[in-house]
Amino acid sequence: MANVVVVGAQWGDEGKGKIVDWLSEQADIVVRFQGGHNAGHTLVIDGVTYKLSLLPSGIVRGGKLSVIGNGVVVDPHALCDEIERLRSQGVKVTPAELKLADNAALILPLHRELDGFRENANSGTKIGTTKRGIGPAYEDKVGRRAIRVRDLAEPDALPPKVERLLAHHNALRRGLGLAEVEADSLLRLLNEIAPKVLPFMDRVWDTLDHARREGRRILFEGAQGALLDIDHGTYPYVTSSNTVAGQAATGSGLGPGAVGYVLGIVKAYTTRVGEGPFPSELHDETGRQIGERGREFGTVTGRARRCGWFDAVLVRQTVKTSGISGIALTKLDILDGFETIKVCTGYRLDGVLIDYLPASESAQKRLEPVYETISGWSGSTAGARSWADLPAEAIKYVRRIEELIGAPVALLSTSPERDDTILVKNPFEA
Ligand code: GDP
Ligand code: IMO
Ligand code: MG
Repeated sequence: MANVVVVGAQWGDEGKGKIVDWLSEQADIVVRFQGGHNAGHTLVIDGVTYKLSLLPSGIVRGGKLSVIGNGVVVDPHALCDEIERLRSQGVKVTPAELKLADNAALILPLHRELDGFRENANSGTKIGTTKRGIGPAYEDKVGRRAIRVRDLAEPDALPPKVERLLAHHNALRRGLGLAEVEADSLLRLLNEIAPKVLPFMDRVWDTLDHARREGRRILFEGAQGALLDIDHGTYPYVTSSNTVAGQAATGSGLGPGAVGYVLGIVKAYTTRVGEGPFPSELHDETGRQIGERGREFGTVTGRARRCGWFDAVLVRQTVKTSGISGIALTKLDILDGFETIKVCTGYRLDGVLIDYLPASESAQKRLEPVYETISGWSGSTAGARSWADLPAEAIKYVRRIEELIGAPVALLSTSPERDDTILVKNPFEA
């Protein structure tokens, strides 16, 4: 029986939340292993919408253990707010259901402020981040000066850690013309939030190891998407963590053998929020139509998502960089009614045909998509719950995607609702 890791195979917002929620019925534990509250995962269950950013999507189902792994950067205030919001929707969130890694790094207000400042500065390097402080928090983690969850439990040891962090940040802030942060006020803030966060603190690697030995099923929930990966994405227009499947092991404290089946979540077209290259982007009426029908507005920031045709080159590459075993194809219903549909099968770079995303930023910006045109379908796929309900042309489109990306469809999603999902091959039984 395999554990399953769910990762976004494009630029995020592929429908990971919906699929994780659907799969979580079969899982005992759902683990977030990277990112933070830059993620926005939407679940619709019997008409009720739940929006999750930091909490694993399994929390909504009840009776599952939800784990925030060490690879996640945790804004303690955002965590408490999200817990309260879900409780107000009737979801049970207690330390029995939720475990937070003691070695996860914290996002502090100074990270959020720095993220926002950089994004608003007219420096020509705008990434279009979510301004949640994700990048600056990971910088401090790698710079070995982060405050971690465990530090909240040791108030006497905090002052020198805060001093060290502020020596770096205040030097930076002076240079940027920002007011310095007082150690006392940061210490007060940490000591105030500590009692709210510490009940959830856990030696997560150990808990997961025990669970694994007992044969419990683990579902790893990725955030963002492979093209936003710090190494494999469209650098520098990426997030600050590894979003590919390999991170599931590192970001939770389990070995790579714990990751079994890799399920890539793939939208039937392409979207992207924020800046950066997007070869198959549509700037015309069709792009606007896809965005409107697909309700392509960000869960976290409300920004309109850029839309374009399906880019098979990108997903084929993700199948390799994440070791994808099979995919969940989502939002097929949004393509209902198009007379023809285009799929990007390659790029022309300075007149030469290529079949991969080059690493060079300037080359990525010069890519011209090469399209194949496929017939659309006049029938509806919306809400379909069995393969037999799909129009023949829709099936052809799905089969062509499988062929182009080199991975089979395991699940097909036809609406935001939990149960509007077609099972082709159960990832847990693969
Ligand atoms: P995530 O970040 O990958 O979890 O995706 P988001 O939740 O940010 O964005 C996906 C959006 O599409 C959400 O509003 C989902 O409710 C919705 N969604 C997911 N699957 C489908 C589908 O098959 N069809 C339609 N129409 N909407 C879907
Ligand atoms: P989910 O999990 C889509 C994008 C931002 C920006 C870049 C860097 O819902 O799929 P960051 O705040 O992480 O430093 O921003 O990454 N981004 C996402 N885009 N879905 C997400 O998450 C994203 N999380 C970050 O728009 O371009
Ligand atoms: Mg999202």
